[in-house]
Amino acid sequence: MSVTVYRKAHFNAAHRLFRKEWSDEKNLEVFGKCSNPLYHGHNYELEVGVTGEIDPETGFLIDLKILKELIYTEIEQPFDHKNLNEEVPVFKTLNPTVENIAMVIWEKLRAKMDTRYGITVKLYETPRNFVVYTGPDSK
Ligand code: NI
Repeated sequence: MSVTVYRKAHFNAAHRLFRKEWSDEKNLEVFGKCSNPLYHGHNYELEVGVTGEIDPETGFLIDLKILKELIYTEIEQPFDHKNLNEEVPVFKTLNPTVENIAMVIWEKLRAKMDTRYGITVKLYETPRNFVVYTGPDSK
């Protein structure tokens, strides 16, 4: 029987959604206010779910202190108070939409976590707009 444990985190970051081969007008038409050439910020709320079996010895699924530190070093430190387009290398060539940011977070955590765990990334760009990503195999 599997269970999912969640840890919440938060970061503020600036971004701009655009394609450089498009005009400012076309970018505005497609990406709206998020295409502002001078960037703008969001308060991103992150929920990371870890799914697996409870260790009968400890009663833990995962030590939340370890999960907290992993989220801090892999996500909060590199993203918080950063301009995602300019300061986070992966977003030099990948539009920092909430969808793409959620996938990048998932991949960073996947690379650091035991494969016995399933990972769910829920990322809010605004209180009403959010993405859930559970990996490339899920539909
Ligand atoms: Ni935006």
